[in-house]
This record gives sequence, structure tokens and C-alpha cells, in this order.
Amino acid sequence: MIDKEKFVGFEKHEYAPIIRKKTAQLLTQLLHEKKPQKVLEIGTFLGCSASLILQECPNCFLKTVEKDVQNVADAKQNLENLGFGGRFEVVCCDAIEFLERENSEQYDFIFLDGPKGQYYKYYPLLKAMLKSGGVLMADDIMYYGLVKSNEKIIHKHRSIVNNLRKFLQIITTDAEMETAVYDFEDGVSVSIKK
Ligand SMILES: C[S@@+](CC[C@H](N)C(=O)[O-])C[C@H]1O[C@@H](n2cnc3c(N)ncnc32)[C@H](O)[C@@H]1O
Repeated sequence: MIDKEKFVGFEKHEYAPIIRKKTAQLLTQLLHEKKPQKVLEIGTFLGCSASLILQECPNCFLKTVEKDVQNVADAKQNLENLGFGGRFEVVCCDAIEFLERENSEQYDFIFLDGPKGQYYKYYPLLKAMLKSGGVLMADDIMYYGLVKSNEKIIHKHRSIVNNLRKFLQIITTDAEMETAVYDFEDGVSVSIKK
């Protein structure tokens, strides 16, 4: 689905954390069903998932937030090269600053794929920015399977795993959201605002 040959920037990264195949299929299926006009993405990287969104929703405008300056430049170039000019904005900013600053904006669809340990902090802000009927899709919520593991989590991963558990607890018990959790690849949640 994603042709890496069409993207600049991969050569600068030892590890490329781009959307996986089944998750990409779920994303495009949801976009196809919901046909959002305004989409927000947290975590642009080189613009791969952004390109799927723009391709699947020819009438949408995408705002995508990325804190790394080089990634922002590469993503802009990639999305322009792919012919999506005028339909996207790559915001170079820490996600929490963006969410606190632009919280009066309303979106039909939000793809959350930024720093995993921060999801639970972003959640109330993202929920407030979601229209009724809107979708919040969060990627990598199982964090290499550690979130559902009963084993002792090593110190290096402990706070991310605990914060993702907190996020999962919040989204699955929020009466104002209808949430499904998918246990494939690195785990994905889909929450629809009632
Ligand atoms: C998993 S990657 C995004 C992949 C992209 N959605 C795709 O599938 O093509 C996560 C991105 O979030 C960015 N990021 C990490 N912390 C961030 C923060 N606090 N604010 C904004 N972006 C952040 C990273 O630089 C990285 O590019």
C-alpha cells in the first residue's frame, strides 16, 4: 500500500515506524465509510499514513503534527510530490502545545500515532476536538505486546506501558465513546464519539 520508493527521508532513519499493513487497511476502511472532511493526525513522520488519508479522502483537509523539523520538511516534500498540495498542513510542533493552542478546532477523524506514553494526556483534548460521530483511531496501543503482558516490565518501558494501560482503561470505560480494541500488529483502538 505504501511505496517507500516514492518517499524521501527513509535513508535518514535506522528504524522507520510507519503504519503497518493491517492497521493501514483498517484506517482506509474507516475513512472510506466515514468520508471525513477534516482530519487530524498526531505523528507525521515522513507522511506515509498522511498519504493514505489524503488518497482515501479526496475531499478532506488534513492537519498533521510532527515535532521533528527534518521529518516535517521530508513529509511536506513527500506529500507535495504525491500531488496533495493545498490539501494538507504539516504543523511543526510538540503535540501537547498544538492541542492546547488549537483546541477550538473540530475534526471528523483523528489518527493518533505520536508518542505512546502521552496518549492518556492527549485524550481529553482530542475528545473535545472530535465532532459527534467522529472517530479517534489510536495506533500501537499494545506496545510490542507489553501492555497485555503479565510479566514484570523492564524499567526502560515501564512508564510507557503503564501510561498506555491508563489510556486503554480510560477509552474503554468512557460512556461518551464507543470503543473497539483490535489486537493485531501492535494493537489499535477505534473510538467513536456518541
Ligand atoms: C509512529 S511515528 C508516525 C508514523 C506515521 N503516522 C506513519 O504511519 O507514517 C511517530 C512520530 O511522532 C513524532 N513525535 C514524537 N513525539 C512527538 C511529540 N511530542 N509531538 C509531535 N510529534 C511527535 C515522531 O517524531 C515520529 O515521527
